[in-house]
Amino acid sequence: MDSLVYTISCHRNFIIDAADDMSSVPDNLSVRQLFDRTSSTCSYLIWDRASRVAAMIDPVHDQSQRDINLIYKLGLQLKYTVETHVHTDHITGSHVLRQVFNAIVLVHENSTAKCADVLVKDGDFIPLGMNRVDILYTPGHSNGDICLLIPGAVFTGDTLLVRSCGRTDYQSGDPGKLYDSITQQLFTLPDETIVYPGHDHNGQSRTTIGAEKQYNPRLGGGRSRKQFTDFMNNLKQDHPTQLYAALPSNLRCGTQLSGL
Ligand SMILES: [Fe+2]
Repeated sequence: MDSLVYTISCHRNFIIDAADDMSSVPDNLSVRQLFDRTSSTCSYLIWDRASRVAAMIDPVHDQSQRDINLIYKLGLQLKYTVETHVHTDHITGSHVLRQVFNAIVLVHENSTAKCADVLVKDGDFIPLGMNRVDILYTPGHSNGDICLLIPGAVFTGDTLLVRSCGRTDYQSGDPGKLYDSITQQLFTLPDETIVYPGHDHNGQSRTTIGAEKQYNPRLGGGRSRKQFTDFMNNLKQDHPTQLYAALPSNLRCGTQLSGL
């Protein structure tokens, strides 16, 4: 039985405060998962409860007003927006949040998104009050993907999804590198580590490292690097949603769309 999987659904327009029911996330941090129905994107607001200093992971442009309202309502000081990679399926809300909150936009140094304020690399961290969010470089979906680690949880962007993973046929994607990133970095985290994915395509809003190691049909259960790369190289998928609008805009942190 697939008992490790958290099946708490991502109720689309509802907001889940994951920290409230997850004892493994430290008491001094809060996590809120947010959802964009059009692109099935999960964004995350993380904050230090004492200082109210916050970071937003993978904001979606079309949800900017929702996010601004929430940040004000929670009394947070949004200091950072973080892109787990340059997205091809939605336009980022980073630029809008930078305009409103003077937030610092972070992306990986390989992203070629020159709009960013800070280009990060493996081993860097984001200070959130007395806490830190560690940056793991996890190439494979693209050559500029990162995952973000806090005690007890990891935000995996498109690197690792619930029972799936990101595609590898765009932006210098590489299935072998993706296999290595997942198996040599993410799968070495404790099994109980919560995985917060960048998308929810099937109503499962999060999972755990242990569950994906065991049940992920693409590379769980001890599947080999060759099995994985063969599978990924033979995937037939449509172009990403909004590809031709999203990619050029996201290389400018969403600025073209907002006209700024
Ligand atoms: Fe992606």
